Amino acid sequence: GVAAKIAPSMLSSDFANLASEAQRMLDCGADWLHMDIMDGYNLNYCLLHKPHFVPNLTIGAPVIESLRKHTKAYLDCHLMVTNPLDYVEPLGKAGASGFTFHVEVSRDNWGELVQRIKSKGMRPGVSLKPGTPIEEVYPLIEGEYPVEMVLVMTVEPGFGGQKFMPETMDKVRALRKKYPSLDIEVDGGLGPSTIDMAASAGANCIVAGSSVFGAPDSAQVISLMRKSVEE
Ligand code: DX5
Ligand code: ZN
Repeated sequence: GVAAKIAPSMLSSDFANLASEAQRMLDCGADWLHMDIMDGYNLNYCLLHKPHFVPNLTIGAPVIESLRKHTKAYLDCHLMVTNPLDYVEPLGKAGASGFTFHVEVSRDNWGELVQRIKSKGMRPGVSLKPGTPIEEVYPLIEGEYPVEMVLVMTVEPGFGGQKFMPETMDKVRALRKKYPSLDIEVDGGLGPSTIDMAASAGANCIVAGSSVFGAPDSAQVISLMRKSVEE
């Protein structure tokens, strides 16, 4: 099978101590650090001209750049923004490793986007919200500039600590059946009680925020999830 990558979501960490929180997760056995980049949607604004993607505002390239000075870890950046193209250059410079954008905002320009991401030395990925059909990402896996990972959202993007949506597993299963060696990531509500559903559906990259940071023994949660994927 494909290698397990356990990626704690730093959104659940103490942002005021980001470097030490990152190191703590790596010491606990994390493979990647998942970085949630959000653009602060405002409903009134959004109805008119949709300048934002999610109703939360988190971090951007300056924080990635600061963290990069403290760690060599793979920084798995998840772009919940309406204009991912604008972030390619700054995130590349900042030292991001993976750049995962949303298909909902990139239906027309994904070829250019993927090309630019690769030219900045980052690994391109595409994500989709729970309501978006899996067929929408197939062209991005098979096109001239293919993405190297698909992130299937298992909650509505925007916040940590939400409940895992089991119905999203149909998409993971379909994807795994079609692409046996693709990196398939899941994000939202993953932890000891939901990991087996995701792993048996075929996910190999596991993002987990509240379940890892909220546990008394984060290392134990990480190793339990790894075992489930590797079984
Ligand atoms: C949600 C983010 C997730 C979030 C996951 O929009 O993309 O990465 O931090 O947090 P948990 O694991 O708590 O659901
Ligand atoms: Zn995320």
